[in-house]
Amino acid sequence: MDRHPTTRKRDFLVVPDLTTKELRAVLDLAKAIKKAPRAYSKALEGKELAMLFQKTSTRTRVSFEVAMHQLGGQALFLDWRTTNFTLGGLEDEVRSLARYVDVIMARVFKHADVEAMARASRVPVINGLSDAAHPCQALADLLTIEEKCPATREAKVAFVGDGTDNVCSSLIDICALLGVAISVVCPSRYSPPAGKMAALEKAKLANHVTVTSDIGAGVKGADVLYTDTFVSMGQEGESDKRLEALKPYQLNEAVVGMTGKEPFIMHCLPAHRDVEISSELVDSARSIIFDQAENRMHAQKALLLFLLGEA
Ligand code: CP
Ligand code: NVA
Repeated sequence: MDRHPTTRKRDFLVVPDLTTKELRAVLDLAKAIKKAPRAYSKALEGKELAMLFQKTSTRTRVSFEVAMHQLGGQALFLDWRTTNFTLGGLEDEVRSLARYVDVIMARVFKHADVEAMARASRVPVINGLSDAAHPCQALADLLTIEEKCPATREAKVAFVGDGTDNVCSSLIDICALLGVAISVVCPSRYSPPAGKMAALEKAKLANHVTVTSDIGAGVKGADVLYTDTFVSMGQEGESDKRLEALKPYQLNEAVVGMTGKEPFIMHCLPAHRDVEISSELVDSARSIIFDQAENRMHAQKALLLFLLGEA
């Protein structure tokens, strides 16, 4: 039996799959859920989430799984390698999965895979990280920034490191859509893809985003300094080249000093201490990294309620 014969399903593959108004609503709901989690303990009673992973994960897996439990539903963990996604066509396997569950979350190497899943699935598909985007991380990031910087629309976020990074891409999108200034500070060969900047121009959102290779200029006045790994999952073959090019862009006390402010420090984790970020910053009083990790769960609860029409 088709569990969802009539409802028009929504997916969350990239941040702009939600409008500014919808993102606002999801973030506000996340705050309400975080404040009174027990009030939502039956909100997804009887609902099932399938979580499919081509890559490893700590936060994404656990935050989604616990989120479903705390909302009264269930989550199923599927390691790609032990499913017949490795034998059958992706479409047939997703169409089958969608007959058992109400929502699917997938972590994939190629963004095209999660797009193909969304086309084949009759239930909502959530991108739990692809090579191009990490939209769930971006929801948690903005939730965290709004908690720490109440005047968020006057705040400046600086992402320092790999401008081609999936986390950076989704952070740019959510900042632009919510009107938060973001500066991407990266070597020019690791700048955000031209296509991404063109899409922001087209959507008249580019005025919120600056890209520079000049660290001092890029981080000046920043209220939040953010970084991610220099070598993402799937890029291990480029490791030496990336580490060499990105080395000058390590987040450390010297960069903090260039802001002229007392910035918060963010990292989506997992962190490579003393590579993209100094160990002392991860543990410093200005680090909000573990609040950010916790907020994955609160933000995703709100997202699940939104996509399942229970918001
Ligand atoms: N930030 C994040 O997605 O962490 P995991 O890779 O552990 O899921
Ligand atoms: N950019 C990193 C994020 C991990 C959460 C990666 O893709 O490996």
